Amino acid sequence: MTIRIGLLGYGFIADLHARAAAAVGAPVVAVAGHHGGRAREFAGRHGIARSGEDWEELVAAPDVDAVVIGTPNSLHHPQAMAALAAGKHVLVDKPMAIGVARAGEMRDAAAAAGLVLATGHMWRYRDEVVALRDRIAAGELGRVVRTRGYGIHAGWGPSGWFTDPALSGGGALIDMGIHAIDTVRFLLGDPWAVRVRASMGHEFSAPGAAGATSSVDTDAVVLIDWDNGVRSVVESGWWQPVLDGVEAETDVYATGGHARIWPAFTADRPPPPDYEHCSLPMYAAQMADFVACCASGAVPRSSAEVGVEAVRIVDAAVASAQEVGR
Ligand SMILES: NC(=O)c1ccc[n+]([C@@H]2O[C@H](COP(=O)([O-])OP(=O)(O)OC[C@H]3O[C@@H](n4cnc5c(N)ncnc54)[C@H](O)[C@@H]3O)[C@@H](O)[C@H]2O)c1
Repeated sequence: MTIRIGLLGYGFIADLHARAAAAVGAPVVAVAGHHGGRAREFAGRHGIARSGEDWEELVAAPDVDAVVIGTPNSLHHPQAMAALAAGKHVLVDKPMAIGVARAGEMRDAAAAAGLVLATGHMWRYRDEVVALRDRIAAGELGRVVRTRGYGIHAGWGPSGWFTDPALSGGGALIDMGIHAIDTVRFLLGDPWAVRVRASMGHEFSAPGAAGATSSVDTDAVVLIDWDNGVRSVVESGWWQPVLDGVEAETDVYATGGHARIWPAFTADRPPPPDYEHCSLPMYAAQMADFVACCASGAVPRSSAEVGVEAVRIVDAAVASAQEVGR
């Protein structure tokens, strides 16, 4: 069964989704974005027949079976809800929504309509992450006691809508930290968070913006207690001066030893220049799972529930950080 895709957005992640769809043989029949000319250029580059500015028209189009959303975070909820109301399956990128109430509404709407709602937590499809998850599940490390993970851009940070709280809903935590939160949850076999504490700051910013603080968080430390007794430290950041390894990593400390996802790469042993951390295969595996689930009705590995829990933890972290005040 062929699942025909409509793509919302033509930016960084939309490019990966279009290449992933091509890699797994799922046709992208239309793309929509808020600058028609750039949507047209994107369509030309990826061999997509239709492009336009009107996302509402795209999600209602009869030749679209599934909508893939790669737009600013504030649009995820309205676009996903409209697509589900039109009877389309949805793959929405992370964060699933701004705020757990909206994320839960999306999950419930998909369930009520009997449609697939997948979320873009693509590290669940990365070979090295799956391999460590399997080692932990097999008991190879004994009992996991604590983890330390991060999602951080060193010497760089995004601009544009990412730093506008109305469009992004937050900074490095909702952008990068959420990846590390979901990755450790996957590694541990999807426990639920029972306690979340955090501290967040705004000091790191682009060189030249001396003295300025960012409009959104640019570093955070989050402490999560899981219902299986494991404790996790998760750090997020943009513009951090240096990094211990690649831009996302998790260390696992267990009664039987220690492991990390990418043990070969540390600050002293950086990856080779041609190493690609956000590489196509995991996005292709995510897309393959999504279209297979659209055809079969199965639940994707990166499910709606996965997206909701990640947003719930981010919300709890932000609330906790505000309690202590800055
Ligand atoms: N899973 C991942 O690896 C990953 C990586 C990057 C981004 N993302 C997520 O994908 C989404 C898009 O991020 P991106 O890096 O592709 O962003 P981008 O800025 O490269 O592209 C954003 C897209 O949204 C549209 N857009 C931008 N501003 C808009 C506005 N004000 N109103 C309407 N549309 C607007 C643009 O037209 C563009 O098509 C975000 O939710 C982000 O968190 C996920």
